[in-house]
Amino acid sequence: MADTKSATLTLDGKSVDLPILKPTIGPEVVDIRKLYGQADVFTYDPGFTSTASCDSTITFIDGDKGELWYRGYPIEQLAKNSHYLEVCYLLLYGELPDEGQLEDFENRVTHHTMVHEQMNNFFRGFRRDAHPMATMVGVVGAMSAFYHDSTDIADPWQREVAAIRLIAKLPTIAAMAYKYSIGQPFVYPQNDLDYASNFLNMCFSVPATKYTPDPALARAMDRIFTLHADHEQNASTSTVRLAGSSGANPFACIAAGIACLWGPAHGGANQAALEMLQQIGSVDRIPEYIKRAKDKDDPFRLMGFGHRVYKNFDPRAKVMKESADEVLDLLGIENNETLKVAKELEKIALEDDYFVSKKLYPNVDFYSGIILSAMGFPTSMFTPIFALSRTVGWIAQWKEMIADPQNKIGRPRQLYVGSGKRDYITVSDR
Ligand code: ACO
Repeated sequence: MADTKSATLTLDGKSVDLPILKPTIGPEVVDIRKLYGQADVFTYDPGFTSTASCDSTITFIDGDKGELWYRGYPIEQLAKNSHYLEVCYLLLYGELPDEGQLEDFENRVTHHTMVHEQMNNFFRGFRRDAHPMATMVGVVGAMSAFYHDSTDIADPWQREVAAIRLIAKLPTIAAMAYKYSIGQPFVYPQNDLDYASNFLNMCFSVPATKYTPDPALARAMDRIFTLHADHEQNASTSTVRLAGSSGANPFACIAAGIACLWGPAHGGANQAALEMLQQIGSVDRIPEYIKRAKDKDDPFRLMGFGHRVYKNFDPRAKVMKESADEVLDLLGIENNETLKVAKELEKIALEDDYFVSKKLYPNVDFYSGIILSAMGFPTSMFTPIFALSRTVGWIAQWKEMIADPQNKIGRPRQLYVGSGKRDYITVSDR
């Protein structure tokens, strides 16, 4: 990675040589680690728009071309030919598994899907109307209390057990959060179902009626999991890495990632996008909302549009759009009003000069909500589904960081613009 190339920074007549690091692909990186020591200055980059926070071998994004690869494999190929648990193996271990490895991995995940029975009581401490994301942040954080035997981050075996437990139990926890919020009994996982069918079963079956997950819907669900599995150093992944850099246990780190994902600028956008479509309500009201989105004085944004990295079509959105068409076709949902609004909004935004010039394309969240809603999920479950899908990415990135000998606690600095030093004045003299 290191190269002989360097950049020279001249400050107050003094020159500092900064090595240039060469990635496999993508922009070169100026290594500023020694800058403060040599020149007594920091760099300033709020929102990390120009900063690589780590090196990683897991996921690559070319935002200008609209490309996303997991371990070198394009997302379109994985979404079409692979399935979620194979993608999990790839993300965690770096290579596609052979048949034996895949069978063993699927077995390990399948046999960890149940949660500690006492967790049921833990759920009951939440209000019934709690948002499932609120419940998930709490329950996943509490996993470190229930699975204390896999919290020693210095032990590679415990790290591995924690990884499998998280991938296996997150669908169970998300489904439990949902069932709890609608006042239905929890449904135990079933080992004879595949990962996606099992999740659908835990969400939609009730003891009184037999439920058989539709294989085509399970396939669409699995594809949603695959498309969300990892996405490089986004806000929630960086949160997981930062939490993990202090030595916090994996369950605490993933709970931190879930909390970060919840925000509407990140994973919460899928809920916000569908709610926006419902709020617009009819095609004739679209111009009003487009006008608001362009108005600098109005905080309104078109949810599900734009991306920090993609300045071209989000490749996940392309696959998701195809999936949406298939699912709606399968369920016989023709143009309902929300769908009409979505299609028209997409068309207008893709032609509108404001959106075109700022390269604001529909992102994955714009289409995922349409599919999930058609499947019968309420909007409050959209982000929990994103969270369970992304858990493998978070854990793969966390494991990569812990195993990296260069790992040190993340500790950004600041540009202080507060008051200078001043003397304390007693309250009666102020
Ligand atoms: N609607 C209207 N205008 C927008 C939108 C939008 N959705 N997104 C960006 N803009 C405008 C901004 O006002 C800004 O305009 P300016 O240059 O005239 O000031 C310009 O485009 C750049 O926007 P930034 O906020 O600087 O871009 P940033 O990279 O920081 O933000 C983000 C990216 C957060 C995704 C943003 O596009 C957004 O808020 N989108 C809506 C929420 C959303 O869909 N989030 C999901 C992201 S994908 C994911 O997490 C899976």
